[in-house]
Amino acid sequence: MTPTIRIGALISGGGTNLQAVIDTCEAGETGGQVVFVGSDNPAAKGLQRAERHGIPSFVVDYGALIRRYRQDPAAVVLPSDFDLDEMRGKSRLFPPDTAAATVKTFLETRAAAESELLAAMASYDFDLLILAGFMRNLTPYFIDRVNTDPENPRIMNIHPALLPSFPGTDGYGDTYRYGCKLGGCTVHFIDYGEDSGPIIGQRAFAILPGDTLDDVKSKGLKEEWKLYPACIKLFAQGPQPAAAPGQII
Ligand code: GRF
Repeated sequence: MTPTIRIGALISGGGTNLQAVIDTCEAGETGGQVVFVGSDNPAAKGLQRAERHGIPSFVVDYGALIRRYRQDPAAVVLPSDFDLDEMRGKSRLFPPDTAAATVKTFLETRAAAESELLAAMASYDFDLLILAGFMRNLTPYFIDRVNTDPENPRIMNIHPALLPSFPGTDGYGDTYRYGCKLGGCTVHFIDYGEDSGPIIGQRAFAILPGDTLDDVKSKGLKEEWKLYPACIKLFAQGPQPAAAPGQII
């Protein structure tokens, strides 16, 4: 399949999903090609995967920026078009009783980092942005500047649980500790909440008596490596009629 869409990827760690996407793209199975890889973590091993495949990459060091802000908020330059009240109104990442100072710190540090991400991404044309183990929540500041057409979201995430169960950072751990007999993974579009956007595809696996948490993670990742390319292929094929009830990608 000749690539029809250009894909940007954001990662934080090992990048096994990134590898699955690169490999299936290179094999002509998705209709896409990966044109850049960005990371919030300078030590992300996935950056080496990009390099091995000749894919340009960049880093915005979120950790360093957040540390600078905590020492002196004025040391971090906020984007000139950042509006704290607008962001507070739109974001659904925080429960209503969250301290105002906590929300302010989060939104300001993330918007500062996100404006650096956007500046780095501006060198590339892309149709789809995939979060492949990117462990930072995105704010409306970033989302609105990528989703320029609100009818056509174009930021995808892969989550290690069968959403809407177990949102958050430890989907497989939460699934395992709850005693679920099925685990799974979900690819969804990003919206202003945490792991709450429209679901594109899911895959499930059995959790058997005697399985450890490591077994669950390993079964889950194997499903993720199939699910992400399948969802990218669906995106590359363009708008689809609504899935029939029970239809699984
Ligand atoms: C995956 O389990 C993904 O679902 C989650 O973070 C993990 C990333 O793994 N968001 P990798 O970096 O793709 O190997």
